Amino acid sequence: MKKKLVVLSGAGMSQESGIRTFRDMGGLWEEYDVMEVATPEAWERNPELVMKFYNDRRKQLYECEPNAGHRGLVGLEQDFEVHIITQNVDDLHERAGSSKVLHLHGELKKSRSSVDESLIYDIGGWELKFGDRCAKGSQLRPHIVWFGEAVPAMDEAIPIVQQADILVVIGTSLNVYPAAGLVHNTSKGTPIFVVDPERPSGFIRNVSYIQEKAGKGVEILKEKLKELR
Ligand code: APR
Repeated sequence: MKKKLVVLSGAGMSQESGIRTFRDMGGLWEEYDVMEVATPEAWERNPELVMKFYNDRRKQLYECEPNAGHRGLVGLEQDFEVHIITQNVDDLHERAGSSKVLHLHGELKKSRSSVDESLIYDIGGWELKFGDRCAKGSQLRPHIVWFGEAVPAMDEAIPIVQQADILVVIGTSLNVYPAAGLVHNTSKGTPIFVVDPERPSGFIRNVSYIQEKAGKGVEILKEKLKELR
């Protein structure tokens, strides 16, 4: 039986694909006030700005391709049962070919009803418009988990991390909860690898740091994992 390798990815995973991270220098939250574009209150107050923010992100996503890091994780499926849990709303893990991808913070290419969160749709292009409605007649909103909203995918993510034989954390500053708390759900003794040019804090034990960008870092990771197959 293959060992279970769980990857928690964040914005740094897609940086080499040309997608900006949030909290690095030049990150998105330097240019935008998170409270103005990524909260339910912002959607109430200024839906035009929120809509434009996500339409811009989506338009840009169509110009991006998966990078060597995404592709390297697909290759790991030969030797491991790989589960990717991502905070990213892009679809680059899927486009690279990873088979098990769980999105914690929603998906940029999807919309959802503003009255019934089980109604989720593919947008089918870059633009979500005012007047685009769900089956129940309400305006569609971006399928994004905004600050202050619940993260329903955590219920699925926690047991996956609890059962991990190996945890790999790539490109996340671990600033945003509850996602960041997942690293504490591993069972005792589970090796943890961190791929990030910086060293996110908050780990307690069993951590190996690979201080590289995702592309090169995943290559180094693969070498290290050979001993753990
Ligand atoms: N490869 C790997 N890691 C990188 C790279 C790279 N090429 N470039 C930057 N990084 C690292 C940074 O050092 C940092 O630790 O990626 C991390 C990015 O952190 P954040 O910008 O805070 O992104 P993330 O942790 O994914 O943010 C979490 O915050 O606003 C939200 O909802 C949004 O899902 C997002 C959440």
